[in-house]
Amino acid sequence: MLKVDRINCFYGHVQVLRDFSLDLAPGEVLCLLGRNGAGKTTALKAIMGLVRARSGGITLDGIDLVGMAAHEVPKQGIGYTPQGRRLFSDLTVDENLQVGLMTRAKGAETRERVLGLFPLLRERLHQRAGTLSGGEQQMLATARALCLEPKVMLLDEPTEGLMPIMISKILDIVATLKEAGVATILVEQRVESALHVADRVAFVENGRTAEVVSPDHLRADPSLLHHYVGVGVRK
Ligand SMILES: Nc1ncnc2c1ncn2[C@@H]1O[C@H](COP(=O)(O)OP(=O)(O)OP(=O)(O)O)[C@@H](O)[C@H]1O
Ligand SMILES: [Mg+2]
Repeated sequence: MLKVDRINCFYGHVQVLRDFSLDLAPGEVLCLLGRNGAGKTTALKAIMGLVRARSGGITLDGIDLVGMAAHEVPKQGIGYTPQGRRLFSDLTVDENLQVGLMTRAKGAETRERVLGLFPLLRERLHQRAGTLSGGEQQMLATARALCLEPKVMLLDEPTEGLMPIMISKILDIVATLKEAGVATILVEQRVESALHVADRVAFVENGRTAEVVSPDHLRADPSLLHHYVGVGVRK
């Protein structure tokens, strides 16, 4: 359903993605792993139209996303939680959720379902997002993306700064979405946790998808992790 075909992206003169490709089927969870600076975040930004692809193609269900205005991309049904969140910090929790709902004209039913997943946010509906704790902001960013009723979720290190129980909660949500046919690209440093939900793992190296393997393959050959991510991987 989502196809990224040999895109090339630059910041100024510096090329960051080099013939970067991936594809994603409905209900599939693809985990992107790679060293800091490999280009994972840039790949998600390119899909969202936040970084231009100078060449190559990006399509969702055959609709061309390259050249689409960045504010139109979420309306196609792509929920995105950027690395380091990026909420409207002067708006309340509830207003942030409303922004998500409005993007695809969703209403009270969606809002209730999302709040059901994050009861903690319900207690803080009128608090300004900027005053939430780091973990609460991460939950709100995920909740807001879910308010789109997305076909595809792009999660850039969604568990960063969360306590273990919330980490498993976020990954449970990915699994629940999967059952509903939602496809997810998950950038995650916690390899072990990510492997529980991933269908495939794509290693990003120097702006390219160097290798795509199954979680079983990776468990059987941990040297891949060492090669592409280096030592010191957080479990
Ligand atoms: N706005 C920018 N301007 C210039 N260079 C940038 C910009 N954003 C990212 N880069 C550079 O592009 C490269 C890829 O960055 P990117 O954020 O995609 O990496 P990443 O794989 O997500 O890394 P991390 O694991 O640290 O989040 C890095 O060398 C980074 O310094
Ligand atoms: Mg990143």
